Amino acid sequence: MSRHLLSRKLQNMSESATIKMAQKARELKAKGIDVISLSLGEPDFDTPDFIKDAAIQALKDGYTKYTPVPGLPVLKEAIAQKLKRDNGLDHELNEIMVSNGAKQCIANICLSLLDEDDEVIIFTPYWVSYFEIVKFCGGKPVPLYAGIDQDFKVRPEQLEDVINEHTKLIIFSSPSNPTGSLYSKEELEALSQVILNHDNLFVLADEIYEYINFIGKTASIGAVSGMKERTLTVNGMSKGFAMTGWRLGYVAGPSWIIDSCAKVQGQFTSGANAFGQVAAAHALRAPLDETFAMRDEFKKRRDLVKNALDQIDGLNTNNPEGAFYFFPEISSFFGRSNGKRVIHDADEFVDVLLDEANVAVVTGTAFGDPNSFRLSYAASEEQLESATERMQNVLGSYK
Ligand SMILES: Cc1ncc(COP(=O)(O)O)c(C=O)c1O
Repeated sequence: MSRHLLSRKLQNMSESATIKMAQKARELKAKGIDVISLSLGEPDFDTPDFIKDAAIQALKDGYTKYTPVPGLPVLKEAIAQKLKRDNGLDHELNEIMVSNGAKQCIANICLSLLDEDDEVIIFTPYWVSYFEIVKFCGGKPVPLYAGIDQDFKVRPEQLEDVINEHTKLIIFSSPSNPTGSLYSKEELEALSQVILNHDNLFVLADEIYEYINFIGKTASIGAVSGMKERTLTVNGMSKGFAMTGWRLGYVAGPSWIIDSCAKVQGQFTSGANAFGQVAAAHALRAPLDETFAMRDEFKKRRDLVKNALDQIDGLNTNNPEGAFYFFPEISSFFGRSNGKRVIHDADEFVDVLLDEANVAVVTGTAFGDPNSFRLSYAASEEQLESATERMQNVLGSYK
């Protein structure tokens, strides 16, 4: 009895490189080594108190039972208002659904839409889970790469080139995990022109980092003329409200796909937790002061890290407009040595940073880019200063 008895689907699934790196860092920490972990995609802030208070009140008010599978009406109404206010999206309540995190929304959508032979174009570098979820649902992931020279953003002609009669879905995040890049309204309009030329082609727009942007606004592809029927807008409470552990995400899209997502979720997990949904409704309706205060902190850290990374010879770094990641290009390090050790690829590069600088980051291969690594700056300024100084020292010794 062993692993080979697991389903082929499961054997085919890659382990999360982010979680693997976090585990390695924890092991070193347990040995007493002072590791600075810049590998995780989680805000280091706590959930604002007014949201916690709303959850406590909801518990006292008896929100302790099963919820309707697609979400409590009070939350769906708050989401509809938010989508109108912030995104220019008009959705009825039957076009909105709440899940246990944006991740579950993505899984529901893929389970609803994909059959064998369906191709899914994933803008690359991509968030790791897109690839694995698509595979698990039987679809064929088709990575579409955009490098740092184009600010990691796919151009319309590139998209046109890879679409074929099997293409069913396009997935991307903006602001992006792992690059921090953000598509402008004009760029989304240009991509939409390509998409609208093809029938039966849908877009999953992951906007979970919407509120963590440093240019004051983001644009939604679902709001582009003609795109509402084609778009599943995914968002959630995790990043903008520092509510990762609450497991609350939502999707807005055509009602027939939302109905199908509810069918899937009804069999797998049922509705998301009751008191959390009431609190999330409060969060979405309230002024966004605390969200924007966290965003301002992230911007300070972005500037601090950008400044430090620019001093490291050989790192090629863009200036991310959102999320809380850097995705430096490092190919000029390949072949460099410190006299004892040679860096051949991105996996070895991150091992060097962990072993010699005691800084944990994630290899770009996990995000579909073998020439980069991801650094999360969801950490204190003190940690970021110390980590980048260590990186400068260690990388400076590789010639
Ligand atoms: C791009 C992206 N989408 C979705 C998620 C998952 O969000 P949730 O916590 O709502 O499941 C993450 C979390 O890291 C993410 O980076």
